[in-house]
Amino acid sequence: MFEAKISRRRMLATLLPAGVSTIWAAEEEARPHAPGVSLHQEALCFDLDELEPYLDARTLKLHYAEHHAEHLRGLHTALDEVDLKVGNVVSLMPCLRELKKPAQVKKSILQLSLAQRPMPTGVQQLLPEDVQRRIRLHGGAHVNHTAFWRFLRPRGKGAYGPLNSSAKAISDAFGTFQTFKEAFTAAALNHFGPGWAWLVYRPDGRLVVTTTRGEDNPLMKDYVDWQDEGRPLLALDLWEHAYYLKYKQDRRAYIDAWWQVVNWDFVEKAHQIVSRHA
Ligand SMILES: [Fe+2]
Repeated sequence: MFEAKISRRRMLATLLPAGVSTIWAAEEEARPHAPGVSLHQEALCFDLDELEPYLDARTLKLHYAEHHAEHLRGLHTALDEVDLKVGNVVSLMPCLRELKKPAQVKKSILQLSLAQRPMPTGVQQLLPEDVQRRIRLHGGAHVNHTAFWRFLRPRGKGAYGPLNSSAKAISDAFGTFQTFKEAFTAAALNHFGPGWAWLVYRPDGRLVVTTTRGEDNPLMKDYVDWQDEGRPLLALDLWEHAYYLKYKQDRRAYIDAWWQVVNWDFVEKAHQIVSRHA
């Protein structure tokens, strides 16, 4: 049923209409991992079989092309229902409960006869609860999965451990890299049910390890404890769909394998960006 070797470009060809993959490739080359998360799925920066034997191609294909893609479709549907235009999905995360319907311009007969006058805007209303809930779920999932892919890279194709400013920040916060790994692993193992494990850059500059439920993330200040709020420097998917095919219920084996394919260069890049804008 599944091909043993599936390249990311071939996957894009299956996901996108003819002709679009070329544009994506051009964007990918020009702006790899641009800040923010747009309303499309980024191309993966590795072939699906390149994370073997740690993360298997079959799981990655399902995860990327079905689970993540389905959440993105759900997000598009929810935004379209309320005609909400979004450039950077990350910008929605801190204000989910305050999201408002776009203002409607109301034209009256008088206004139409006084075309020179500026048009007043209507009163903005909060989004319907159901739409807000779906933006939280699908928007959170799209941001989380985009982060998850960005923080992965094939073993041997980059640093094997934190670098420079992120290494110093980790040792300042946790003492040693090994202590940090143990804290992160313990948090991920002890998290009950589906969710995510994170290394977070707090607004005060401290690094913390935390987990979130469902598709929530540390950017959602309305839904996470204040001490866990911040910007992700590392993301681990704890949903069973991320590992069940290969590891069954053995979450520890999955976590141990995931450490082998962490993209420490991107952790460093993320740390430089968030600390610069703190
Ligand atoms: Fe997932």
